[in-house]
Order: sequence, then structure tokens, then C-alpha cells
Amino acid sequence: MRKYVIAGNWKMNNTPAQTKELINEMKPLVAGASCEVVLCVPFVDIAAAVEAAKGSDIKIGAENIHWAESGAFTGEISGDMLKAAGAEYVIIGHSERRQYFGETDDTVNARLKAAIAAGLTPIVCVGETLEQREKNITVETVAMQTKIAFRDISTADAKNTVIAYEPVWAIGTGKTATDEQADEVNGAIRNVIAEIYGKDVADSIVIQYGGSMNAKNAEGLLAKEHIDGGLIGGASLKAQDFAVIVNAAK
Ligand code: PGA
Repeated sequence: MRKYVIAGNWKMNNTPAQTKELINEMKPLVAGASCEVVLCVPFVDIAAAVEAAKGSDIKIGAENIHWAESGAFTGEISGDMLKAAGAEYVIIGHSERRQYFGETDDTVNARLKAAIAAGLTPIVCVGETLEQREKNITVETVAMQTKIAFRDISTADAKNTVIAYEPVWAIGTGKTATDEQADEVNGAIRNVIAEIYGKDVADSIVIQYGGSMNAKNAEGLLAKEHIDGGLIGGASLKAQDFAVIVNAAK
């Protein structure tokens, strides 16, 4: 049995004060959840989020990590820094990072290694653009992204990594993949993991869906065989909506 992971991705939203307020509002609403509840927040909000989440089961994550341990990388944050700030998870290779900040499959692989080395649980994002879907190369695209992301990652480490399938055309657009579309691609990703690591890892690895998942469509998506949670953008900024999604993940 895979334990579902529902992770919020706040993107570039909320100050530390707003972070405390929102998490305090969420805490009672997600208490007793049967899934893992994670909020990935901007770097400057991590400390406030960790403080606010104390006494609850909410875990805090970051939205990016640099691959080096330290050094001359202006504006970047290392795994050790995230860990010391109290983060337990980190998003890697979000499509916005790929689209606007030149993230590649190779840098995703480097960041994944850094997250593992720091003892953070990585959430590796893959997903096709609308153009790739229309060209009928969705499965090939996510398979390649997955294979490169996991290059030189051990079986034990792969098992503890979360994958988020996020079709780029569904992110922040209000257009969700249908339950069937999402499940089909999540299943294809699981097959790629089985090819690399075998059935045992494929059966236990958590594969989320992300892209306009909300309080209305979460239940249907999460009921699918290969969807083990969600990476939630917009709806994770609203306590009530996020709680509905968390409580749908059983
Ligand atoms: P969305 O974002 O839920 O707002 O579509 C999801 C994501 O980008 O992780």
C-alpha cells in the first residue's frame, strides 16, 4: 500500500506573516489526515512555516534546491541550508523552473542527487507541453524526463523519491487532465520505474498528479490506480480547498 502524499506548492506567494496565518488556519482542517501533508513554500517562508506547523502533521518543503553543497552560486540555496531551516521535502524540476529558468533534465538529475544527499524527500516533476501532447509524444516525453532525472540514483533512493506528473497545459490553467488521462500517464511513469528498478520499487514509489487539481476534481483523480497524491498550486493557497483535497486522499 502506498501512502498518499498531498503537497501544496505555494510558488511565489505569501510573506512569513501570511504563511503563519494560513498554516494556523489549515492545521485543524487537516488534523488526522490519512495521507502525508506537505507544504512547499518560498525559501524565506520556510522558518515561519516550520514554526507554525509545530504540533501538527504538516511537513514543510522547499520549491527548489541547488546541486552544489556551497560556493559561488549567487541566489541559490543548498540542501544543507534547507535541512537546517527545517524543510523535509523539496520540489525539483517544476515546469515553471524548466520554462522560465532554463532547468533541464540534467540539472534536475543534479538537484535530485543533492536532495538525496541532504536527506530531503524529493518531489521530481515531469510533464508534457500541449504541443507534445498534440504530437502524441506524451509518454515518450515523460519517460525521457524520468530516465534522465533518475540517472545514477540507487534503488533505495529511488524508492523514497516522489514523482509528480504535471501536464504543463494543465498547470494554473483550470484545465485538468481527465482522471483517465492522468492515470494513463502515471501508469506509464510507473512502467519506466519498473524498467529501471524492477517491480518492487515501481509498486511502492509515490506518483502524484498535479495541474489544476482542486476541491472538486481531487476525489476522482485520487481514486485512480496510479495516482498516489497531488501537487497542488492554486488550491493550496486556500485552507478550506486544500483541506478538502487532503481529506479526499485515503
Ligand atoms: P496548479 O499548480 O494546481 O495551480 O495548476 C500545480 C503546480 O504547478 O504544481
